[in-house]
Formats: sequence, C-alpha cells, structure tokens
Amino acid sequence: MSNTILVGAQWGDEGKGKIIDVLTEQADIVVRTQGGNNAGHTVLVGSKKYVLHLVPSGILRRSKKCIIGNGVVIDPVSLVEEVDGLLKLGVKVNGNLFISETAHVVFPYHRELDAQREILKGKNKIGTTKRGIGPAYGDKAARTGMRIIDLVNPSRFEALLRFKIKENNEILKAFGAAPLSFQKVHAAYRKSGDRLRPFVANTVVLLHEAMGRGADILFEGAQGTFLDIDHGTYPYVTSSNTTAGGACTGSGVPPNHMDRVVGVMKAYTTRVGEGPFPSENAAIADMLHNMGREFGATTGRARRCGWFDSVVTGQATMVNGIDDLAVTNVDGLDTLDSIRVCVGYRVGTKRYDYIPNDIELRSKCEPVYVEFPGWKTPTDRARKWKDLPAKARAYLRAIAELTGAKLTIVSVGPAREQTIFL
Ligand code: GDP
Ligand code: IMO
Ligand code: MG
Repeated sequence: MSNTILVGAQWGDEGKGKIIDVLTEQADIVVRTQGGNNAGHTVLVGSKKYVLHLVPSGILRRSKKCIIGNGVVIDPVSLVEEVDGLLKLGVKVNGNLFISETAHVVFPYHRELDAQREILKGKNKIGTTKRGIGPAYGDKAARTGMRIIDLVNPSRFEALLRFKIKENNEILKAFGAAPLSFQKVHAAYRKSGDRLRPFVANTVVLLHEAMGRGADILFEGAQGTFLDIDHGTYPYVTSSNTTAGGACTGSGVPPNHMDRVVGVMKAYTTRVGEGPFPSENAAIADMLHNMGREFGATTGRARRCGWFDSVVTGQATMVNGIDDLAVTNVDGLDTLDSIRVCVGYRVGTKRYDYIPNDIELRSKCEPVYVEFPGWKTPTDRARKWKDLPAKARAYLRAIAELTGAKLTIVSVGPAREQTIFL
C-alpha cells in the first residue's frame, strides 16, 4: 500500500491533470481534497481532450475509483454538467465516483458575492475565477455553510436555503446587485441534489476501509502552492490549503498514512489572475501564446508567463515536503537560444532567497537570474531520458537541484506517451 500526494509547486496549471492521469495507472483510488470548479485540469487521451473541474482526473481510467473529498467545495449544478459531459464523451461515471457528505456546497449567491467583491476592489481585484470559491469557504469557516448531506435531504435543504437566500439577498442589496429567487435556486439545486444522491457517501470511512484492504491512493491537488490560503502570495490566493497538508484535512487520511509527495512544476512559470510574479516576462508570454499555449482551462484567460523561478519551487519543497518532481512543458522552451532561471530576489542592495510576506516589499523584488544555453531541438518525441538533448538534461537537473527534490518525471507534451520516467 502506498499513498501519494500530488501538488502544484507554482501558481497552478502546472500540468497536474496530465501527471495524475499517468500516475493513476498505478493507483486504485484518486481523491480531490480541496478547491472547487475554479480548477481546470486538461488531460489528453489519444485524440480526445478532457477538461476536468471537480471530478478527479483519475476518472479517465475505467477501473479506478474517484472521490471528491470533504475539503472540496461543490457547485452541484456545475458538477452534474461535468458528469453529463463526461458520459457524453463515453467516460464511465457510474459506481466509480463518490462524493463526500461533508463537502460544502457552492450557491449562486457565493458566485454573485465573488463577482461583487471583485468589482468593489477595482484595481486591487484578485482576478478570481468568479466561481464563488472564496465566499463558499468563507461560509464554511463562519459555520454558516451548507453541506452535501444537507443538499440531499429535501426538507432540511428547503428550510436552510430559505434562510440563506433571505440573508444573502440583504447583502446583495447592499452591493446594489439583483436579489436571487428562492424558487429558482431551490428548483435547480433540488434537481442536481437528486442526480448526485447516488454518488454521496461517507468518504472518510470508504477511504479507511480501502486502505485496510491495501489500496493505493493518489491525492490530486488543485491550484498550486502559491495560491495556498496560508502559504501563498496572500491576498492573491485561493481560499483553500493547496499544499500537502490539505490532502489530509480534505480527505480524513492522516499524515502518518502518507508515503510520498510529488511536486508538479512547469519548466517555466505561469500565473492566472493578479498578484506578484517576479520572473514574469512578456517575450516568453508572446512566444507561448503564439504557439496557442497557456490559455486558462476554466476561464479562457491568457495566462501570464515567465522564467522558471527556483525561489518559488524551493519554498514549495519546504512547505509540502516534496520528494519527487515532475517537470512538465519542457517542449515549451525548445526554440530558445538561452533560458533564464530566477534564483533569488533583490530589493535595493538586500538579497532575498524566499518570497517576502510584506506586500510592498514583494512588489519591489527584482529577480536575480542565472542563464542556461537553450537546446534548440524539439523534445516532444523524446521517450527516454537519454533521448533528450544534453543541454535540456543539464537544465532539468539544475532546476530540480535548485528546487531541492528528486527529478523523477519529465513531460514533453500533453499526451500520455510524452512522459519520461527517470
Ligand atoms: P493543471 O491545472 O495543473 O492540471 O494544468 P492545466 O491542465 O490547467 O494546464 C496544463 C496544460 O499543459 C494543459 O493544456 C495540458 O494538456 C498541457 N500539458 C501538460 N504537460 C505538457 C507538456 O509536457 N507539454 C505540453 N506541450 N503541454 C503539456
Ligand atoms: P488548477 O487546479 C490557476 C487563481 C485565480 C485567481 C486566484 C483566486 O487548474 O491549477 P479563486 O477563483 O480560486 O478565488 O481565484 O486563484 N486560480 C487558479 N489559477 N489554476 C487554478 O487551478 C486556479 N484556481 C484558482 O486565477 O488568481
Ligand atoms: Mg489548470
């Protein structure tokens, strides 16, 4: 039995979905433990492209079980749409997906409040996905949320929703936004509640029973380390613990049952939304966008792009306890003459080897770069480590060493076969 936590080591979109899909081959169960449908995990299987938001990427392998854990916030209408979309594409979603009774529910007032708060913030906005994630976790922490177990109990749900709509319409009124209709929300949520009821389970007990039988579990992280509510670049973060600890609290599997942490990182850096990004680079962004790459899977926004930043990934190793590294999108750098890596920040004469917590200081950070020669050879056909150009191997060894973990997977394209195991 072996349990593996997979986390993003940067600001999300590291290619977690692709790596999860590859690693699922060796697992029995895949669990999502935090976040909601703000996540967008793209997986290519053959010529088919799947974009998963709430359903674990493990669903694409028919014999595996998938769990949406207690730490996730679920928009049930959106989840039903996602399940229906997967069914249409021929994916099995029957008897292999389980939803935690205690996961919290995202409501239209959460989405509306998310949008209204962003408008009010103006130029200081976070650039959220407007999926209601912050307000839904806010309700959970304030103990005013509703859980899946409430959604699937019609009489309790009606009473709770009546109160919540009344309360939130008062708040929306204060924002100058239109109130929500109880009837409309109730009808849509009752319908999705009925659809989801067969999937709902005590997933903590289910996971522990499976572990008792020796099951191998993969914990699929969403977002990335620097979007973590505690360890990220606050307030430009999401509202959950995206770091390894979130896999424990979000599933009920304790830390002493975890065996390995895999960190996924791109060979460069991207970020969607606002917030600090010291190694951001317009030329890299243009190059990648012109290749049709780096557009968000959830909102379609162009991702901000920049050089690889080992201050970021080194700190990710520290807070997640990353053992193994999967480096993706190596092929994105194939055409460059020379490649920079940020190894520290400078503010005036002072050097920082970590991301300062002070917002003003953070915004003043100038990257300190080291330079690597580009390999200027396509890597997308490499299937073994020795197939990679020597300069690419040197670059990958260097960024893994700077990150402080063992390089075990290299990805040179979105497809399953474009994966090299070291
Ligand atoms: P996630 O949110 O971490 O699962 O990442 P996303 O799926 O949002 O974004 C990663 C993107 O890179 C997706 O479009 C993947 O299909 C793609 N991808 C993953 N690994 C590679 C790779 O090695 N090379 C290329 N070209 N694309 C990749
Ligand atoms: P995956 O799982 C990249 C970003 C948003 C915004 C901030 C807060 O695909 O890696 P939120 O809607 O969560 O309140 O937005 O977090 N963000 C992501 N960026 N990948 C994601 O997920 C993200 N989920 C949220 O762009 O900056
Ligand atoms: Mg993504």
